Amino acid sequence: MTSDFSAWQQNLLIHTELALDRYLPAGDTIPQRLHTAMRYAVIGGGKRIRPLLAFAAGEVSNAPLTQVTAAACAVELIHAYSLVHDDLPCMDDDTLRRGKPTCHIAFDEPTALLAGDSLQSLAFDILSNTPTASPAQHVAMIQLLARASGSLGMAGGQAIDLDNVGQIIGLAELEHMHRLKTGTLIEAAVLMGALCGDHPLEPGQRERLNTYAHAIGLAFQVIDDVLDATASSQQLGKTAGKDALHDKPTYVSLMGCDAANQFALDLHAEAIAALQTLPNHQHLSMLADRIVRRDA
Ligand code: IPE
Ligand code: IPE
Ligand code: MG
Ligand code: MG
Ligand code: MG
Repeated sequence: MTSDFSAWQQNLLIHTELALDRYLPAGDTIPQRLHTAMRYAVIGGGKRIRPLLAFAAGEVSNAPLTQVTAAACAVELIHAYSLVHDDLPCMDDDTLRRGKPTCHIAFDEPTALLAGDSLQSLAFDILSNTPTASPAQHVAMIQLLARASGSLGMAGGQAIDLDNVGQIIGLAELEHMHRLKTGTLIEAAVLMGALCGDHPLEPGQRERLNTYAHAIGLAFQVIDDVLDATASSQQLGKTAGKDALHDKPTYVSLMGCDAANQFALDLHAEAIAALQTLPNHQHLSMLADRIVRRDA
């Protein structure tokens, strides 16, 4: 099972890399500096957890690979854009990302800003150009990604994150911030993958998939907080220890590493329980394991 999972992951990572490479304009397309920066931010790095989640969710609804590929790449492009902007001096002011200098260090701030903007537009361009089983599915997919990345999703979570620097907040506020800045896009990856299927999931199945996605989306950021406090920059490919340095409220600052890890395990258990009656959920289950047991 584990080696099957590794082979499955490996194949899809290669597949995703090739698809992203095809979707992105060539580096010698004018304006070359912008296109080179977009490719720099996307190609050859990152765990690609969101695309893998989309592929695994597509298995639940028996979705065709071409359609899930478009959804998976669109989510990854939004994620890559969020990282480029997250690293800017006006946000987390980071110099290392995916084991390389951040986009604004390798290029410059205006180029990084525009690269992020353009990656976001490209994500929606890809989605709008990929036919789905029905027009209703097409609109639902675009709407999911728009809502997950906008002011009620990732961008809103990032705004709350910046507002909370140096503040003392409660667990409910922290959870809301983490769900928005990270959870919503992870949920979108799962739900978009499932939406690519020929038939819509039954309401009960959709609800269980929602529960799974909601739980692992939050667990992902809880573990990101733990790793920021416990792993090395070399291990993470990004600067470790930044949350404490910038006085950010995190699950580690509010409850400590042990309780944060336990909270992630509780969310994992909730996610796994929700999967039980869904067909072909094995890869979703193994990705949930990977999300809480990762070391980078
Ligand atoms: C980092 O995400 C930022 C968060 C939303 C926590 P990932 O840990 O998925 O980053 P990559 O894609 O692997 O670089
Ligand atoms: C970022 O959270 C969430 C995003 C929307 C990009 P972090 O600021 O904790 O992500 P890292 O640790 O820099 O990857
Ligand atoms: Mg941040
Ligand atoms: Mg950051
Ligand atoms: Mg972090």
